[in-house]
Amino acid sequence: MRLLCIAALLGCVMAVHAQAPAEGFPPAVFPSTVTVKQLMLDLIHPSSNDLLLAINRGSQNNNDWATARRAAVTLAESGNLLMQRGRAREGDWVKDAKLLVEAGNAAYKAALARDTVALAAVGPVIDASCTACHKQYRPNVFPKVVTGDGGSK
Ligand code: HEC
Repeated sequence: MRLLCIAALLGCVMAVHAQAPAEGFPPAVFPSTVTVKQLMLDLIHPSSNDLLLAINRGSQNNNDWATARRAAVTLAESGNLLMQRGRAREGDWVKDAKLLVEAGNAAYKAALARDTVALAAVGPVIDASCTACHKQYRPNVFPKVVTGDGGSK
């Protein structure tokens, strides 16, 4: 009987603990450090380059595969960084960023398995994830097509 009481009490204590904010953890929302542009220039673009090079040249040794994994994991987590509050925008932004997460994850899985064919298949998916977002959010690179009288195509 006493054992049962202790078990019940323990259960209760654990339930309360589970609801309390974990000590030492950062808040769910925290400020980002760099701009989207900096992320693009110094994290995302170099990583996608590394990955596309790995695909085009092929990975011969442990170092090559490590480079491919590093680039893939960076791209996957970069997608999450783009979804952070303060960076995410209205519209399809989150959907586009999730594409990057998925492509990065698929590349990571392929690189982990040293599967050249699967890795090569991810190349166009990564490209598509960049372009999908840029089409909507980089109007200086992808100007809106103006149609109708006197409009340019
Ligand atoms: C969810 C949206 C999104 C995704 C996904 C995305 N980008 Fe971007 N990217 C942007 C935006 C917005 C800008 C413009 C940033 C600015 O000028 O402030 C940009 C700018 C850039 C730039 C130019 C930076 C400059 O101004 O010189 C490069 C290079 C770039 N992205 C590469 C990539 C690559 C490579 C990928 C895919 C692997 C990618 N981006 C995926 C939103 C995205």
